[in-house]
Amino acid sequence: MLGETSKWHLNYPPKNVESILSKSSENSFQVRKKIIKQAHDFSLYIHVPFCISKCAYCTYNGPHIQTFGAKEYVDCLIQEINWILKDFPKKNKVLSVYMGGGTPTILGAKELKRLINHIFTNFKIKKNTTFSLEATPYSIDKKIAKTLSESGVNRIYLGVQSFNEEKLKQVRRPQKIKDVYNAVKWLRQAGIQFISFDLLYDLVPNETEDDFLKDTLVHLRKLKPNTVSVIPLQHYDRYPEKIAQSYELNKLKPKRDSEYWRYKWLELKNILAIGYRASSYLWNNGQYTKIRSQPKSHSEYKQKVQTNNQEIYNHYSLSKKESLKRILIRHLHFPKIPFTKIKETFGEKLFWEVVKPIRQYISIENNLISISPEYNEILPFKTKNQQINYFILTFIYLYSKEAQDEILLRL
Ligand SMILES: C[S@@+](CC[C@H](N)C(=O)[O-])C[C@H]1O[C@@H](n2cnc3c(N)ncnc32)[C@H](O)[C@@H]1O
Ligand code: SF4
Repeated sequence: MLGETSKWHLNYPPKNVESILSKSSENSFQVRKKIIKQAHDFSLYIHVPFCISKCAYCTYNGPHIQTFGAKEYVDCLIQEINWILKDFPKKNKVLSVYMGGGTPTILGAKELKRLINHIFTNFKIKKNTTFSLEATPYSIDKKIAKTLSESGVNRIYLGVQSFNEEKLKQVRRPQKIKDVYNAVKWLRQAGIQFISFDLLYDLVPNETEDDFLKDTLVHLRKLKPNTVSVIPLQHYDRYPEKIAQSYELNKLKPKRDSEYWRYKWLELKNILAIGYRASSYLWNNGQYTKIRSQPKSHSEYKQKVQTNNQEIYNHYSLSKKESLKRILIRHLHFPKIPFTKIKETFGEKLFWEVVKPIRQYISIENNLISISPEYNEILPFKTKNQQINYFILTFIYLYSKEAQDEILLRL
C-alpha cells in the first residue's frame, strides 16, 4: 500500500522544480531579512527530527537523538534562533509556536526547558499564544509533562494513531493503550488543558471504518481529547465523515475555534522554521518564498551552524500568479480557502484568470472556494482514486509548463 499514492501528493511546485528554482544566487539570509522587515506577524516552527524508534508507515522520522546529542541539537536550534533575532524588528510579534518532528519530547526535560525559555525570553510573543508540541504517548512521563506546562507549552498533539495494540505492533510502534491513558493523566495533572489526538486509519491493510470505530470510540469517550485529527495513512482522498459524526454525536464536539482536522488552511501565514532540514514558508505581497535548511547530514548541519555558514539555507520565490496556483492546487479540495483572503492578496482578476480552464467547476459558498467532483467529466482518463483524479485535473489545467515537464520526465 505504501508508495502507491505518494507520487500524487498535491504539492506545487513539485520537488524537481523546487531544486531548479533554488539555484538562485541571492543570499537566503538576506532574502529572509527583507521579508522579516516587511511583514509583521510570524509563527515559529521548531523541527526535531529524531525518534525513539521507527514506525513502519512513517516518512518523517529520523534516528535516535543519541546520534546527535540533545544538548548539541538544542545549541544548534538556539544559534538558528539567534540568527533570526538579529534581523527581527522589535515591532514584530510571534503569533504561535509549534514544535514538531519526529518527537520533540525526545530532547528531555532539561533541554526542552532551556530551548523554550530562550524563545519566551527573546521573542515578543502574542498574549495567550498557542505553544504546541507533538509527542508520542510513550515519551511522556510526569517530569516531562510538568516541565512542558511550567515552560509555557499549552497544546499537546498526542500521536495516538491507534488504540489497537495488535495493529500498533504490526507497524512496529512500541505503544500500549495504557501509555495513552498515562500521558493524558500526567499532562492534565500538570495543567495542560488542550490535548489533541492524531489517529491514523488504514493503518493496516483491510481495516474497515467499523473496525476503526470499534477500536477508537470507547477510548475517546473516556479520555475526552479536545480535538481529534483522523488521518488516512498516506493518502488523503476520503474523509472520515462517519467518524467525525460519531464523535460529535457523543457530545465530544470540539470547540469551534479548535483544529478539528490537523491539515488545516496554513497558506499565507508566515512560518519561520528552524532545525535540521526544516523549511520556512514566507509571504510577501502575495509572493511565496520557501527557505530550506539544506545540509545533507547531521554533522554538516552542526558544522554549518557552529561556523555561521550562510550556505546552510537555500530558497526560491514564486511569482504572484504561481503563488496563487500553489494555494489553489493544494486547497481546492480540502481544507477549503476563504475567497475574501484570495481577493485581498491576489485580486479577483488574477483569481478568475488562473481558474479559467476549470471555471465551470469552481463554486464559492459561504466565502469558501471549492471544486465540484463533476470535473471528472473533462479528464482524459480517470481512476478510482479521487486524489489521483484531482492530481490529473490540476496537472493539466493549473501546473506551469516547467512543472509538467519535470513530472513527465519522472513518470
Ligand atoms: C510526524 S508525526 C510526529 C508525532 C510523533 N512522532 C508521533 O508519532 O506521535 C505527526 C503525525 O503524522 C502522522 N503520520 C505519520 N506518518 C503518516 C503517514 N504515512 N500518513 C499519514 N499520516 C502520517 C501521524 O498521525 C503523526 O501523529
Ligand atoms: S510516527 Fe512519530 S514516532 Fe513514529 S517514526 Fe514517525 S515521527 Fe517517529
